[in-house]
Amino acid sequence: MNPPAAARLLRVSRSGPLTGRCRVPGDKSISHRALLFGALADGLVEVSGLGLGGDNRSTASALRALGVELELQNGEAKIQGVGFAGLRQAPAPLDCGNSGTTIRLLMGLLAGRSFESTLFGDASLTKRPMKRVAEPLRRMGATLDGRTDPARPGDIFPPVRVKGGALSGIRYDLPVASAQLKSALVLAALQAKGRTELREPARSRDHTERMLRALGAPISVDASSGAILVDPDDWNGRLRAARLVVPGDLSSATFLIVAALTVPGSDVTVENVGLNPTRTGALDVLTAMGADIQITPGADAMGEPVGAVRVRSSALRGTRVAGELALRAIDEIPALAVAAACAEGITEFADLAELRVKESDRIVAVARELRRAGITVEERPDGLIVTGLAGRAPTGGTVTPEHDHRIAMAGAVLGLSAGQETLVPADDIDTSFPTFADTLARLGAPIGS
Ligand code: S3P
Repeated sequence: MNPPAAARLLRVSRSGPLTGRCRVPGDKSISHRALLFGALADGLVEVSGLGLGGDNRSTASALRALGVELELQNGEAKIQGVGFAGLRQAPAPLDCGNSGTTIRLLMGLLAGRSFESTLFGDASLTKRPMKRVAEPLRRMGATLDGRTDPARPGDIFPPVRVKGGALSGIRYDLPVASAQLKSALVLAALQAKGRTELREPARSRDHTERMLRALGAPISVDASSGAILVDPDDWNGRLRAARLVVPGDLSSATFLIVAALTVPGSDVTVENVGLNPTRTGALDVLTAMGADIQITPGADAMGEPVGAVRVRSSALRGTRVAGELALRAIDEIPALAVAAACAEGITEFADLAELRVKESDRIVAVARELRRAGITVEERPDGLIVTGLAGRAPTGGTVTPEHDHRIAMAGAVLGLSAGQETLVPADDIDTSFPTFADTLARLGAPIGS
């Protein structure tokens, strides 16, 4: 037997100016949906610009295990759509890897199929709560159970077992603003009898609604209440086989943007980035901090706004990130915490309790990494208070991301300003942005293995 491969380490040093133009891999959230909805279409779906990371590959392999023919190569996919009815029971439990979106969307999809499925994931995914998805799916008529944990009573965790069945539409107020939960329920609702009406406490990312509408699904959003309506009764159950184009991932781009802002003398343009307004909170936060960010809009891709983002290094000042803005920047908090660490003054992050149930407890993880780098940070139940270094250099060291790609990348970006070398486990980064180090290196950053 071969010995396990040694973990790869990135070495990051203090950087001179970052300059040039670059691209990022396809948006992870939109790529999951392109793969899943492509599999549900009526015929061949070609996708370009797909995300290249482990999470999207988990969705692709789960679909293959469910009987979908799918070819993936360098961000291009050819999917032979089989419709809901063409999915087949997988021969073995479905491995969702590190991906919350894969497991939760599949729970909703498989809730409407008559066979039984088991879904599991890595050490990080195994700790993530699934009752939020299981409970409304049970109300719709599916049978679901999962692992219980005496330390977190009342919830269930992967592995999760889904026994699908005949579903009925529901009216449901989501307890959290979550696009994964909303999308799982929409996928179940499309297979149900009767109308489903979903209300979120605040508007989460709406890629599912946009793409499904473009593919002819009976989904609409009530303009005044924001409720999501699914009316499957007069629908033939088939999504249109269209060509799908995925824009670059703003969540990945944000690490490059914060790198350019915090390394003096930098001038970087990230091209072809998705700019869906439910995702652009980080750009608004950075602009409020004094960032020099210019956006050049491009042509929409499948109902998703796209553009180029030019960033020049800027003197940043502290700000407050809360409420609707915090939700629109939910995945960017680790990157924004690096901006806060390099700013002058205090930045307060609030209304972010959901960060505790991401790939890691990101409140704990961000606080740990900032403290390691010599930054004063206070943890709150729903956020963080970061005191900026105001021009002083952070300390280098070893980042411990604990299977969280965004903590690893945040640690690397902070390392570009540090007085000593920073070591970053590289494997975790592959979850969303396998070309992260190469892209930064091409912009001039001293980063490599
Ligand atoms: C995602 C939704 C968000 C986000 C995650 C991707 C999606 O999670 O944090 O990275 O693709 O739907 P929640 O739905 O748990 O808020």
